[in-house]
Amino acid sequence: MMKQLFTIGAHAFRHGLFLAPMAGFTDRAMRHICHRYGAEVTVSEMISAKALVFSDKKTLALSRIEEGDGPTIIQIFGKEPETIARGIEKLTATFGESAPIGIDINMGCPVPKIFKNGEGSALMQSPELIEKIVRAARGATDLPISVKLRLGIDDAHRCAVGCALAAEAGGAAFVAIHGRTKAQMYSGVADWESIKNVKNSLQIPVIANGDVTSGESAIAILDATGADGLMVGRAAIGNPFLFTEILCALEGKPYTPPTLQQRAEVALEELSIAISDKGEAVAVRESRGKIALYLHGFHGASALRAKVHTSSTYADVKEAFATAIQNATK
Ligand SMILES: Cc1cc2nc3c(=O)[nH]c(=O)nc-3n(C[C@H](O)[C@H](O)[C@H](O)COP(=O)(O)O)c2cc1C
Repeated sequence: MMKQLFTIGAHAFRHGLFLAPMAGFTDRAMRHICHRYGAEVTVSEMISAKALVFSDKKTLALSRIEEGDGPTIIQIFGKEPETIARGIEKLTATFGESAPIGIDINMGCPVPKIFKNGEGSALMQSPELIEKIVRAARGATDLPISVKLRLGIDDAHRCAVGCALAAEAGGAAFVAIHGRTKAQMYSGVADWESIKNVKNSLQIPVIANGDVTSGESAIAILDATGADGLMVGRAAIGNPFLFTEILCALEGKPYTPPTLQQRAEVALEELSIAISDKGEAVAVRESRGKIALYLHGFHGASALRAKVHTSSTYADVKEAFATAIQNATK
C-alpha cells in the first residue's frame, strides 16, 4: 500500500522527515544545509514567547528564514496562553516572503531553568493548560500549530497520551513525541513502544523522535511506532548527509556517503551561512562545539576539534579542516 503523504497545511511531504529543534544548533545555517540534504521540514531553536512580545531583536533573529531554506517550523516556548498568542502575533508581523509553514510549541524541554519556570516539559503537568495554549495559539495565526512532547515527567507520570489528546482537542495539527521522560533528560534508550501508544490514541498525525542515527534506525522507529513521520536531532549535528541516507533507506535506494573533502566543504559552507547571519566572531565562536563533528569518527578528528576550539576566524577554521584532511588521507 502507498504510504499516505504527511501534510502540514497546504504542504505535503513524502516521509515526514524532520530535523528536530535544538537550541544552540538548529540556526538558519544548519536548517538550510539539512534541508538541502533531505530534511523535508526543519524546526528552529526554541524562541521565548515573552521575548517575542517585547520584539527582542536577538530573539527575532532566531526565527530568520530565507529563500532556499526549505519548509521551516518556528518553535516557541512559554506558559501563558495569552503571552504565547501575543508572541505569535508579533512573530507573524515580521514574516517577509519566506514565512514558516507552522508554529510548534515546546512542551518537552527538561532544562531545570525552563521547567522551574513552568515552561517546556512542565506544561505536561497540566493537560488543561496544554489545550488552552494550543487554542490560544490557533486564534493568533492561520498557520498550523503543533506541539512537541516527551513521554511524561518521570516513570510515575507518563502522561504523554493525555497531553497529546489535550493538544488534539485544542486544535493541534500534529504532535511530535520524544520517547523519553523529562526525568531521563537524554539518558537511556528512547522508548518507541510508548510513542506507539500515543499514535494509537490520536486522530491527528504523530511524529516519532529519539535515537534515530541511521537509515536502518529510521525504518525501525517508523515500524515500531506506526508514526506518520520521524524527527532526527543529535545525529544530524555535523552530519546533514544522514537525511540523504534516511531517504535512500526509506525509498530502497543505495546510499553513497560523502567523501572527507565533501564533508569539509559542507562544514565550511554551514559556517559561511552562519557568518552571513551573525557576523564572523559570533558565528565562529558558536560553531566551535559543532563544526568539527563533520569529521567525527575520522582519524585526526580530535586534533581538528582542538584547533577549531581556538579558532576565531573563518580562515582559521578552513585551515584546520585542510590540515585535518591532509592528515586523514596520509
Ligand atoms: C543540544 C540540544 C538542544 C535541544 N533543544 C531543543 C529545543 O530547543 N526544543 C525542543 O523541542 N527540543 C530540543 N531538544 C530535543 C531534541 O529536539 C530531540 O527531541 C532529542 O535530542 C531526541 O532526539 P535525537 O535522539 O534524535 O537527538 C534539544 C536536544 C539537544 C541535544
